[in-house]
Amino acid sequence: MTAGPWRADLLSDTLTRPSAAMRAAMAGAEVGDDVFGEDPTVRTLEERVAGLLGHPAGLFTPTGSMANQLALRLHVKAGEEVLCDSLAHVVRAEMGAAAVFSGITSRTWVADRGLLDPAQPIAMLQTGVGPYQVCTALVVVENTHNFGGGTVQPVAAIRALRAALEPRGVRLHIDGARLWNAHVASGEPLAAYGMEADTVSVCLSKGLGAPIGSVLVGAADAIAEARIWRKRYGGGMRQVGVLAAAGLHAIDHHIDRLADDHARARRAAAAFAEAAPGCVDPQTVQTNIVMLSTSGTRWAPTELVAAAAERGVRGYAAGPALVRLVWHLDVDDAATSHAIDVFTGLLRG
Ligand SMILES: Cc1ncc(COP(=O)(O)O)c(C=O)c1O
Repeated sequence: MTAGPWRADLLSDTLTRPSAAMRAAMAGAEVGDDVFGEDPTVRTLEERVAGLLGHPAGLFTPTGSMANQLALRLHVKAGEEVLCDSLAHVVRAEMGAAAVFSGITSRTWVADRGLLDPAQPIAMLQTGVGPYQVCTALVVVENTHNFGGGTVQPVAAIRALRAALEPRGVRLHIDGARLWNAHVASGEPLAAYGMEADTVSVCLSKGLGAPIGSVLVGAADAIAEARIWRKRYGGGMRQVGVLAAAGLHAIDHHIDRLADDHARARRAAAAFAEAAPGCVDPQTVQTNIVMLSTSGTRWAPTELVAAAAERGVRGYAAGPALVRLVWHLDVDDAATSHAIDVFTGLLRG
């Protein structure tokens, strides 16, 4: 079952449509003016997510990009820098917001599949460099890693990074748009990730299936400041308990089922690898994203995506030799089987 004309829509896990039960929860939500802090459902969501991640406070934002950019704004002064890997969403896909809104510069390291090796950012840290060089204020770790192919960051690697950052006064933010997937795949409690970071952003609108919404968590004073910046950025919202209710419903009902998305993605990856050895290593498919390499096949990514589209399967040409396929709530076993038939046929053909 998938929305639209597609028999399998694997473009993104942001495509999900709210289920009937989620819509009912939204319709019944208690609401108030959230700019005045009077929306009880938003407060419940903020407290719930903060609690899950082991932080004192949370802030509901319309998007993951806003939650990330608020975190960058909190931790990095104009003229300072953020470090992250070269495929990170904060530097690749947020339209230069850190530079535009906050005067922040960035440096990146190259990480295979986006997997964190703490030695890389640690080697790049610049603190106490006086008036001659840019000071590092923040490191961002993306977990799971989107363009890396759904890679789960080991808690131990994040902990080792944090241990090196703390004494040097450098902060750590986790872009946890898909932290739920990391939690389900690794079995680590959400708070195990949360406790290693100064702030964490999580999205409700990706695999969890809510139509909108993210939450930024952190210390109470940091979140109070983020609340001011959210308003300044035009993100102060009013009776948005209807949206927060979708998020609460998603947390109650859609976390454990992420394991189904992961299993379907792994099943597809195994079939693709058999059809075209080397196009994907099924061992690297840890969550809901499959990155198919077209190197060694006769396909360019855009052509492969176009041929699949003609056969009812939508994917995304993610690079010069990569096609990204993402599993989610609206892709069931039958849709997965169809996607497998289509891609294995094309890869073999
Ligand atoms: C890793 C990651 N971080 C942040 C975001 C931003 O979320 P939004 O689209 O809600 O701004 C995305 C969106 O896909 C993402 O994949």
